[in-house]
Amino acid sequence: MSLMNHQLSSSSTISSSSSTFLAPTDFNSRRKSIKVQVKKFGACKCVAAPHEEKIAFKTKVSRNANMAKLQAGYLFPEIARRRAAHLLKYPDAKVISLGIGDTTEPIPEVITSAMEKRANALSTLEGYSGYGAEQGEKPLRAAIASKFYSNLGIEEDDIFVSDGAKSDISRLQVAFGSNVTMAVQDPSYPAYVDSSVIMGQTGQFQKDVQKYGNIEYMRCTPENDFFPDLSKVSRTDVIFFCSPNNPTGSAASREQLTQLVQFAKKNGSILVYDSAYALYMSNDNPRSIFEIPGARQVAIEISSFSKYAGFTGVRLGWTVVPKELLFSDGFPVAKDFNRIVCTCFNGASNVAQSGALACLSPEGFKAMQEVIGFYKENTKIIVETFNSLGFKVYGGKNAPYVWVHFPGRSSWEVFSEVLEKTHVVTTPGSGFGPGGEGFVRVSAFGHRENILEACKRFKQLYK
Ligand SMILES: Cc1ncc(COP(=O)(O)O)c(C=O)c1O
Repeated sequence: MSLMNHQLSSSSTISSSSSTFLAPTDFNSRRKSIKVQVKKFGACKCVAAPHEEKIAFKTKVSRNANMAKLQAGYLFPEIARRRAAHLLKYPDAKVISLGIGDTTEPIPEVITSAMEKRANALSTLEGYSGYGAEQGEKPLRAAIASKFYSNLGIEEDDIFVSDGAKSDISRLQVAFGSNVTMAVQDPSYPAYVDSSVIMGQTGQFQKDVQKYGNIEYMRCTPENDFFPDLSKVSRTDVIFFCSPNNPTGSAASREQLTQLVQFAKKNGSILVYDSAYALYMSNDNPRSIFEIPGARQVAIEISSFSKYAGFTGVRLGWTVVPKELLFSDGFPVAKDFNRIVCTCFNGASNVAQSGALACLSPEGFKAMQEVIGFYKENTKIIVETFNSLGFKVYGGKNAPYVWVHFPGRSSWEVFSEVLEKTHVVTTPGSGFGPGGEGFVRVSAFGHRENILEACKRFKQLYK
């Protein structure tokens, strides 16, 4: 592919008035047309063109009414669609994606070589294996229990190995069923709300407040240190809580998590704690909810190797469901979750499980931490950039996400402005819930040169 790096000529300089998506109306003097490096790309097949198909036949099956409640696309495919549309408009643009939060750095060899060995063994009579235990291989369950939960009262058989945290969010929802009520941080990772809608736990989307009926949105803003005021939160059956948080990057303190566990206990709720970014923490806030006394009676924890070892494509995560966690009739939640896992899932890939086990070996763990350290360095560069431009910036210290405040502006408008003028894809904060309005999330997952280039373009745009 020929790479044609050139400065945009005046005719191709990105103008401040040509937003592809949502035309901004209140440009201020901070925003300028800037010149950016462009790179020639090959033909892009993934387009947002309307898909005109003649409907020749309709089944008699009515659409799942819960699916019909969902708003537009799931956030990240929507961003990918807008990125593709942008590439159609600017086929030469060197687009940098700091949007969906996908990892970019190679998986350390000590980990891939374990997967290679396992894959090769599958070609031999002695090394071949088919279906494994639905809950995961014993050595991996034991290694997860001892690496992440030693002295926390979590045992090997409390661990359910999965193909990633996202699938387990949905499998938990299936286990809870459609009659439970749920609470989420606002803003939060969209899979909690969307899976709840799909399960039929919610009412319709209310456009005026940008919320689904029957979900308790726990507002998390700079004013409350990104921790909900629990005295104003209504009781729900299930509480989804993510710390360090995607998208705000904030991590709850030991005191805050103690309050949360006590709140769940007082209300007889189940806390689903998402710790997918725990190893990104710089301070000594808890890495696991099970560090909090009493949590085993009220909490489930989901986690993943996706953002630790670059396993977003390999797919390997886990969920901890302690034996002590019981439904109101005394039935163990773990037994129902086990039933769901056995019914809906046939176990994680054996090759991926060998990779995960290698992640937990001393060399693998060290290599994984180096990858995390690399992304943390990226985070610092992004935080410093926005700080130097005078923005209020949150997150970044305990998670690979930087949460940038654009007071009084619409997140989608800022997203479009940044994409249009810098060719950098970010994520609009409002995509994570109404509490994210006015913010944009910048992901630190990227090659160093792309992070530096993106920051250079941010500086040109907002200086
Ligand atoms: C908070 C949170 N939970 C879960 C996931 C999904 O992780 P996995 O790749 O293991 O499905 C993500 C991915 O971005 C996430 O940000």
